[in-house]
Amino acid sequence: MAEAKATIYPEPRARVRAMKEYHPPLGNRDTLRLDFNENTLACSPKVCEVLEKISAGALTRYPEREPVEALVAARLGVAADQIALTNGVDEAIHVLFEAFLGDELLLPVPTYTMYEVYASATDTRVVAVQAADDLRFPFDRLLAAITPRTKIVAIANPNSPSGSVATREQILELARRAPHALLLVDEAYFHFHGETVIDLVGKVPNLMVARTFSKAYGLAGLRLGLLAGQVESMCWVRRVLSPYSVNSLALACLPPALEDEAYLNWYVREVLAARIEFEAVLDAAGVRRWPSHANFVLVEIGAHHSEFVRLMSSKGVLLRDRSSDPGCAGRVRITIGTREQMRHAALALDESLGALRAEGGKR
Ligand SMILES: Cc1ncc(COP(=O)(O)O)c(C=O)c1O
Repeated sequence: MAEAKATIYPEPRARVRAMKEYHPPLGNRDTLRLDFNENTLACSPKVCEVLEKISAGALTRYPEREPVEALVAARLGVAADQIALTNGVDEAIHVLFEAFLGDELLLPVPTYTMYEVYASATDTRVVAVQAADDLRFPFDRLLAAITPRTKIVAIANPNSPSGSVATREQILELARRAPHALLLVDEAYFHFHGETVIDLVGKVPNLMVARTFSKAYGLAGLRLGLLAGQVESMCWVRRVLSPYSVNSLALACLPPALEDEAYLNWYVREVLAARIEFEAVLDAAGVRRWPSHANFVLVEIGAHHSEFVRLMSSKGVLLRDRSSDPGCAGRVRITIGTREQMRHAALALDESLGALRAEGGKR
């Protein structure tokens, strides 16, 4: 009998072995998706027209990023060599961290999960600065946590899941107080807030700004984002960024998405109107909420948060339980869609809260 051979498995780096698995709760999302802060409706019809015309021949070629980068740069008022298109903001975070991290990453928490995920694959100490119960941007605590070892300070502005914002003055002060570090301002939800620091790119040397096409533009499935910063930093980012990570379908769709400002503005206005209506529903129901500058709102459900999310899901409304985020026990994040969608969500909310209260009465 042949002797069984010992199988040798190559071990990954210790850092990778220590990483937590990250499984976003996708699957069976063919319903009202108020769980991932996406556009809940559609992208511009102009994007679909372009997609329909893409030829088989066009798919045989490697994607060429530079011409579209130049177009986006001109729109945003930055130079073409100050910008890189990426496979979503997630790739922007990944390559920025690959290029620069080590030492310390400074993060206000709770915040977007992927900063910590990508940092944990590098030799970096994550310094998490907890926001107070009001979940406002913890500006003073962040300033106090800057050390000579701080390499990157990452701020989502507006932040997820809280919806809170940092002011332009606070961002400038952070950049001034950490001149040896990069300050990443992730403006994924910019369109719902309307304030940006992208005009400071190149002027504030350590500022990096990220934007996504996954949210207001409704192109999450195409994976399209960008990173902007001074040329001296962007040239290192480009060393680790694949020249082909933004595929040709995404590149073809970007110009019509940018051009159709009327559609983008309509969608943003619709969401903001829906947020006002839905916040009134939450207030009337006595549900605590945090002020939001984005297309979502964080609410306090309490001990029965999982049951609430399950009840809402059984009524066709998907929400995101954020209870395991730091300082967020019992809290659930609700994406804001159109007014019509949110009226449907409001009915489901009333019924679910009613069911929870009735259960509570029996307990
Ligand atoms: C703050 C923030 N940044 C980035 C992203 C991801 O963007 P993208 O889809 O472009 O990778 C998200 C998604 O939820 C987010 O909340």
